[in-house]
Amino acid sequence: MHVSFNLALDFDSALRSAATAAGFADAEALNPEVRVSDPRHGDYQANGVLGYAKARKLNPRATAEKLVAALPASVRETCDVTIAGPGFINFTLKPATLFAWLRAHPSIAQLRVGAATAKRDQTWIVDYSSPNTAKQMHVGHLRSAVIGEALARLLAFSGAKVVRDNHIGDWGTQFGKLIWAYKRQLNTDALSREPLEEFERLYKVGNSTAEADPAVLDEARAELVKLQAGDPENLAIWKKINDVSLAAFQRIYDQLDIRFDVALGESFYNDKTDQIYRELSDLGLAVESEGALVVFHPEHPRFKEQPLIIRKRDGAANYASTDLATILYRFEHFKATGALYVVDKRQSDHFDQLFLTAQKWFAASHRTLPHLEHIDFGTVLGEDNKPLKTRSGENIKLRDLLTEAEARALALVSERSPDIPAEERAEIARLVGVASVQYADLSQNRSSDYLFAWDKMISLEGNTAAYLLYAVARIHSIFRKLGIDPTAGELDTAATPLETAEELTLARKLVKFSNALDSAVTQLRPHFLCLYLYELAGDFSGFYNADKVAVEDPAIRARRLLLCARTLLLLETGLNLLGLRTLRRM
Ligand code: ARG
Repeated sequence: MHVSFNLALDFDSALRSAATAAGFADAEALNPEVRVSDPRHGDYQANGVLGYAKARKLNPRATAEKLVAALPASVRETCDVTIAGPGFINFTLKPATLFAWLRAHPSIAQLRVGAATAKRDQTWIVDYSSPNTAKQMHVGHLRSAVIGEALARLLAFSGAKVVRDNHIGDWGTQFGKLIWAYKRQLNTDALSREPLEEFERLYKVGNSTAEADPAVLDEARAELVKLQAGDPENLAIWKKINDVSLAAFQRIYDQLDIRFDVALGESFYNDKTDQIYRELSDLGLAVESEGALVVFHPEHPRFKEQPLIIRKRDGAANYASTDLATILYRFEHFKATGALYVVDKRQSDHFDQLFLTAQKWFAASHRTLPHLEHIDFGTVLGEDNKPLKTRSGENIKLRDLLTEAEARALALVSERSPDIPAEERAEIARLVGVASVQYADLSQNRSSDYLFAWDKMISLEGNTAAYLLYAVARIHSIFRKLGIDPTAGELDTAATPLETAEELTLARKLVKFSNALDSAVTQLRPHFLCLYLYELAGDFSGFYNADKVAVEDPAIRARRLLLCARTLLLLETGLNLLGLRTLRRM
């Protein structure tokens, strides 16, 4: 029996060909809309017949009946088909189909073959983390890093060529004030001890002095213009600040297991903005306004009066100029299908205006604009429901945050598994701590604000990293005790088809991995995969509590071990796709 990775796609195409076979006049217009259904109604449901029939003044139920009658025989072999209500078509997979699916997907390589079709031949740029140098990375950049990494992995698994780009803010206005203060007030001791803190201090000095004294503001602006013009002294200071910052960011990325393909920061586009000014002016899109070069959008309720500034009055490039140059570069150099900007939703005005400008610019210059999408996310809130800050109102340092996560994870692991040697426990805690922070972020719809609550996040109960990592470790221990390798092929051949209710429930969940993956990838929302993994772990518990695995009967034992092995494979694959590392023991 042939079983596809994503069974919903099989039913989708079977219904489309049934429409032709049944002689429907405009068969190609039918979109069956096959979805995973509520388990009470079967495994998959086609909802699209209703709309199709109604639009043609046909009886939906009769239309569904005609379609079902025309389904190819192969569909009847794999599942039971029923019609419900006004014309929904339900597909309930037969145990033999579930069994065949499990046998067809024994390894990550097999899963990849199945998954790597959705985005084949596409190139996606994921622009994520993208902190600003000379400052600490804050929790917003952590959200961006965590969500962006998950999306990059999900897209790559779906067959896309992914370019992970850290669009570092290394060329902003902050450098004018910072260099101004650096030249006058640098504390070299502090610089060698806590360089990022020293840069932040200097920036604050520059900022407050400039605010109080317009002459200083002008001097700071002049420092920035000098830097942008390539002045060697300012360039050397700038380079030093960036090197130190990047090294500090790298330590966080290492903890999160993030590796960028490129880090083309704003400075990379320094020599590429002149072309932008020229093109946009020549095309009549950009105009001079109060000395600045700006783009108005007369048709837009807000942007008709609040233009996108693409060159500042003093001639300096800004966030928008480099972002426009970045779009062109991604289009020309990477031949990108699309670019995803994983950035705080508070920047949505910037991206709306940027994308609108790019649309007009590309259309007027006869280029095809790649798909540009702002992957927005909400604010991280503290337990007081306000943006997360330290008690004294400062931004939380990521390093401190991850250290605390580790300490809390250590307490959890020590309570649960006191017999694991201390050194190994510390290692487990390092992994569980980071994973908990990542997973808490990923498991919620990214567009919502998210409440940062340690107790919920680092817990063995609920939809948490620790719960899922523990499920993985538990399955490893089942195999370890029996001295069997979970990737061994013999389970597969010795197993007999599934029988008990819990075996079947678990198997029905396992085959829907592809659908969860599909939702996460098409909607670019990792929480769909998180929810699936959580439910899968729950169904596994249900099975494990009801059905003894290590029974005498070799056939029953083999099929239960087969279920264990596939659950393990999907949990590990899913968690890795989200950016988490898993454990064999915890
Ligand atoms: N550096 C910016 C910030 O910290 C984020 C950059 C996002 N990427 C982009 N292409 N604009 O807010």
